[in-house]
Amino acid sequence: MDVRAIAGEVASIETGALIVNLFEGVTQPGGATGAVDSALDGAITKLISDGEVNGKKGELTLIHTLGKMPADRVIVAGLGKQDKLSVEVVRQVMGEASRMVRRLNVKRAATIAHGAGIGGMDPRAAGQAIAEGTYLGLYTFRKYKAAGGDDNELDEMLVVEREQDKVAAIQAGIDRGQVLAEATIIARDMSNEPGNVLTPTEMAERAQKVAQESGLGFEVLDSPEMGELGMGALLAVAAGSNRPPKFIIMRYLGDPGNASNNVALCGKGITFDSGGISIKPAEGMGAMKGDMAGGASVIGAMKAIAALKPRINVMALIPATENMSGGSATHPGDVVRGMTGQSIEIDNTDAEGRLVLADAIGYARQHDQRRIVDVATLTGAAVVALGNTSAAVMGNDQEMIDRVIQAGEGTGEKFWQLPMFEEYLELINSDIADLKNTGGRPAGTITAGYFIREFVGDLPWVHLDIAGMARTDKERGYIVKGHTGFPVRTLVNLVEGLAENP
Ligand code: BES
Ligand code: MN
Ligand code: ZN
Repeated sequence: MDVRAIAGEVASIETGALIVNLFEGVTQPGGATGAVDSALDGAITKLISDGEVNGKKGELTLIHTLGKMPADRVIVAGLGKQDKLSVEVVRQVMGEASRMVRRLNVKRAATIAHGAGIGGMDPRAAGQAIAEGTYLGLYTFRKYKAAGGDDNELDEMLVVEREQDKVAAIQAGIDRGQVLAEATIIARDMSNEPGNVLTPTEMAERAQKVAQESGLGFEVLDSPEMGELGMGALLAVAAGSNRPPKFIIMRYLGDPGNASNNVALCGKGITFDSGGISIKPAEGMGAMKGDMAGGASVIGAMKAIAALKPRINVMALIPATENMSGGSATHPGDVVRGMTGQSIEIDNTDAEGRLVLADAIGYARQHDQRRIVDVATLTGAAVVALGNTSAAVMGNDQEMIDRVIQAGEGTGEKFWQLPMFEEYLELINSDIADLKNTGGRPAGTITAGYFIREFVGDLPWVHLDIAGMARTDKERGYIVKGHTGFPVRTLVNLVEGLAENP
C-alpha cells in the first residue's frame, strides 16, 4: 500500500473511491466537497438537507457516482466541528475511511488533504496525519489465518491537492507519517505475535534485523554476561523459564562525541508473564504474551529515529525474558541483588517488570546515559486508574514529564501524571532487604514507579506505564483490535524534541 500526493482536481480524478469531507453543521459544502457535490448534481447537499448526513466526526456516507464523475464512488467523511479539528481527528477519520474503502474491495482510492483547505491546517501536518491514519488503520495481523476470508487489500491512496504549491509539503508530511507508521507497525507485529514465537531469542533477532536495516549499533547479552554484570534482578525473573533471556542493546549515534544529551529508552521485554510462582489466574493470561509491548515500542521507535536522524545519541535497552514457574524459579521471599547493588526482597514474583527494568537502568547508568525513559506494561492498577484512554506517567523530573505529555499531544497518545509523594516509599520498605518489589494494593502504579525510581539515582527519568494502552479489543479510528504500538510515535517526538532543544 502506498500513500502519495498528487496535484489535481478531485472532480476529474479516476479512482475506485474518493474521500471528501464535511464539517458538522455545514449545509452548503464548499471547496473540494463542493466541487464533488456539483458534479453529483447536488447529491451531498440533498443528503444534508434530508438530515441523512450531518458531518459528525466519524460519519461515513457512501455515494455511487454512476458515471457522473470519473471516480466510481464518493465517501463523505464527517470531520466533526470545525473548531475542534486536529491532526488526531484527521488520523482517526482516515483510519475509518480507508477500512471502509478496503471493505468495498476498492484497490485504488483517493482523498483530499483533510484540514489543509478551509481547516487551516499546515499541509505537512495534514499529509502526515493522512498517512498515519491510513497505514495504521489498515493494519492487520493475519499471518496465522488461512487466505480467503476478509483479505481485501488496498493498493494506493492518492492525496489530491488542487494547489500545486502545497503538494510538496503534503508529500513531505506523508513521508514522515509513513516512517512513524512503519515503526508503530514493527511494535504491533512483535506484540501481537504469540509467546511461543516471540521468545526472548526471537525478539533479539527482530531487533537485530531492525538494527541492520537502519545502521544502528546492536548487541545482545546472554545470561553469563548478565551474571558478570551483576544483573541479579533480571536473572531472578528469568530463572523459572527454559527459554534463555536476552538483554537487547541498540544504539543510535546522531551526535557522536557529545554525550551530554545521551538518552536511554528502556522497554520491558517480558515475552510471556505467567506471574511465576505467584501465578496469575488462568482467565486472560494469554494476553500476557504482550507483556513485551514496552520493549517492542522502543525497538519500533529506534527504527524511526534512525530514519529521521535527530542530532542526539539514543541507547535502547530491552531486558527480554519470560516470567515462568519452572523448578528453578525464584520464590516469593527470595532476596536478590541487581546491577546497582541494592538488595531486593521478592515479595511477589508477578511484579517482575520493575525487576528487569532495574537492571536495564543499572546498565544505562554504567554507559554514560544522561536521561532515562522507561516504557512498560507494568501494573494492572494503571488500567484500573486510567482505563484504556491514557497511560500513566511518573518521574523525578517535571520537565521530562511535561515533555512526554506534550510529545503525546501531537500524536494523540495520552499521558496522565501520577504523584510521587515521599510517603509512597514506605510501602516498598522491606524488613530484610533494601527494598521489596511490591507495595500492596494501594497506589499500585505509583509504588511500581517508586521502586524503579530507587534505581535511577539522580538522573532525570520518566516512567510510562502503558498497561492499559498497549492492547485494545475495540476498533477505533486508526487503532485496530490487538496491539496498538503505543507509544512509538510519542517516543520519537520526545527524542526529536530533546535533540532540538536539549
Ligand atoms: N504485566 C503485568 C501487568 C499488567 C496487567 C499488564 C494487566 C497489562 C495488563 C505485571 O507484570 C503484573 O503482573 N503486575 C502486578 C503487580 C502486583 C503483583 C504488585 C499487577 O498489576 O497485578
Ligand atoms: Mn507480572
Ligand atoms: Zn508483567
